[in-house]
Amino acid sequence: MCGIVGYVGKQKASAIILEGLKRLEYRGYDSAGVCVLQGGKLDVAKKAGRVENLVKEVTKHHLTGTTGIGHTRWATHGGVTDANAHPHVSSDGKFALIHNGVIENYSQIKGFLLSKGYTFQSETDTEVLCNLIAYHYAKEPVEGSRSPHGNGQGNGGAIATSRFLESVRKTLRHVEGTYGIAVLCVDYPAELVAARKASPLLLGVGDGEYIIASDASALISRTQNVVYLKDGELVHLTKTGFTITTLDQEDVSPVVDKITWSIKDAEIGTYAHFMEKEIFEQPLALENSMRGRFSEDGSTANFGGLNLTASELRQIDRFMFCACGTAWHACLVTEHLIERFARLPVEVDYASEFRYRNSPLDRNTLFFVMSQSGETIDTLAALREAQRKGYRVLAINNVVGSTIAREANGGIYQHVGPEIGVASTKAFTSQLLLGAMLALYIARLRDMSFSDGVIYVKALKGAPDLVRDALKQAPHIQAIAKRFAHHTDFLFLGRLSLFPLALEGALKLKEISYIHAEGYPAAEMKHGPIALISEKCPSVFFAPKGEIFNKVVSSMQEIKARKGPVIAIITEGCELPPGLADEVITIPDCHEAVLPIVAAVPVQLLSYYIAVERGCDVDKPRNLAKSVTVE
Ligand code: AGP
Ligand code: GLU
Repeated sequence: MCGIVGYVGKQKASAIILEGLKRLEYRGYDSAGVCVLQGGKLDVAKKAGRVENLVKEVTKHHLTGTTGIGHTRWATHGGVTDANAHPHVSSDGKFALIHNGVIENYSQIKGFLLSKGYTFQSETDTEVLCNLIAYHYAKEPVEGSRSPHGNGQGNGGAIATSRFLESVRKTLRHVEGTYGIAVLCVDYPAELVAARKASPLLLGVGDGEYIIASDASALISRTQNVVYLKDGELVHLTKTGFTITTLDQEDVSPVVDKITWSIKDAEIGTYAHFMEKEIFEQPLALENSMRGRFSEDGSTANFGGLNLTASELRQIDRFMFCACGTAWHACLVTEHLIERFARLPVEVDYASEFRYRNSPLDRNTLFFVMSQSGETIDTLAALREAQRKGYRVLAINNVVGSTIAREANGGIYQHVGPEIGVASTKAFTSQLLLGAMLALYIARLRDMSFSDGVIYVKALKGAPDLVRDALKQAPHIQAIAKRFAHHTDFLFLGRLSLFPLALEGALKLKEISYIHAEGYPAAEMKHGPIALISEKCPSVFFAPKGEIFNKVVSSMQEIKARKGPVIAIITEGCELPPGLADEVITIPDCHEAVLPIVAAVPVQLLSYYIAVERGCDVDKPRNLAKSVTVE
């Protein structure tokens, strides 16, 4: 959560930082702030609320400096106020700092600093960092105890270690918790120090300029060359070069990577919201996820990135998947498909639970994590816990170069481009597709025949067109949304591979329209939730063609008998008893590996249009942020 951006170069820092903050706002939008170093002073502008509030505030300042930092906050410690907004400035006025993460031992550090006469202006955990840096700085000998060093690859190379850098390093050695920080010091007018532990941070290497950011969208308009910082690394930027060192003062040789997407991919175009854009770009996203991943004979999938040979995979007799939120729902569908087609047991756990549950795993379990952002701290912690136990962990992940992607022992990139809407849509259907392809791959190593493999592959290749067809229902779904938008409780009901879709439908509605919604297995509804049913509580049913269609219809009858409105999502060719459903949405009939992908579309559209109808801020729902980088 939270967006960080820092600039050292020749341009007006505030303009570049504000542009970066607008692009990073989806990471946190409680408050925003900027600090520019100019005329030997730290000039701070910060404001509770959205970046647009900050933009107005900035006009009152004359920010012309070429070194600066900026932040969008997702509050953890202290309310949403101007005072708690970042950047924070040390009480001696020498340091300004922005922070993503949580300082767990902040109250001990604060007690110590108060006893030394430092004062605090905010309730945040963050503020202890700038005062502790100031404390170490005051004790640090003046300049250059180490000989100059460079990394040989940074532009311009050698920079002498500085009192500034060393006081940040010393501070971080005393800190428990997580951080991505960027710091300015008045005594170093064209320098910036940044560091990370568990919170994402990357360095953009531009033409005579450097940009530090918590994700690539903040710097992509200026450069595609980036260095992904690792945990425990500090980067020291000046106008002529940069060095990367560790907390133990070791030099690090930077690896410069190239971002493969462009600024256009992160722009909204003609759509009203990013969520709408991302829903409608799903056919393309699915094509990108599957491209080059089917075998030449058209009977299976290929995943080179798993770093496992077919015979190693044959040794696996159990799978474990960990994830959070929407990605967890995608894991549940994957569980269903692997068990159904590869006949191997799968366990799915919330990443946040797995980490503390000490779940017994056996030697032949293959461990997967799924994460769009690759930065979700709970998922990262689950990955690390499994690796600590000696497991190889594979990741299904969208953001190239993310922490999870780098720490996993192999995996599958989703290739759907940046997902900006806080509510995950195209990343979800891509995860469903890749889960279905994984199930196929494993099944074909075991008992699935060549001809069944060919049928399965053909079905998956057809998924983008089926999603295109499902999207044609948008006007009809918009009308249904208008009719039901005033309701305050919803049930989403589905069975088998569509039970996770019921969970996903309920989550989407909750997060963007603030309507209470529950997802349940359709038949389980009568064991409790049926008590909620009245004319005020609509139920959204998934009722696809197949052996359980009649059972689902019986569940609908039970709802109708209690005056509950029914919205039925059926597949082509199904017929419901007349008058049973108040609204019917028909999606294309398809192979069961593709069905969850197609079924996702109507619930995404329904929640989107309901949220729009209720006037909600679809892309930035209250209390949420795109990627949850605190525990
Ligand atoms: C999705 O709509 C949610 N905003 C959220 O549940 C999300 O899926 C979850 O936080 C996991 O994110 P990740 O895929 O980036 O790890
Ligand atoms: N813990 C800090 C705060 O509450 C940083 C939160 C963030 O990551 O935005 O201000």
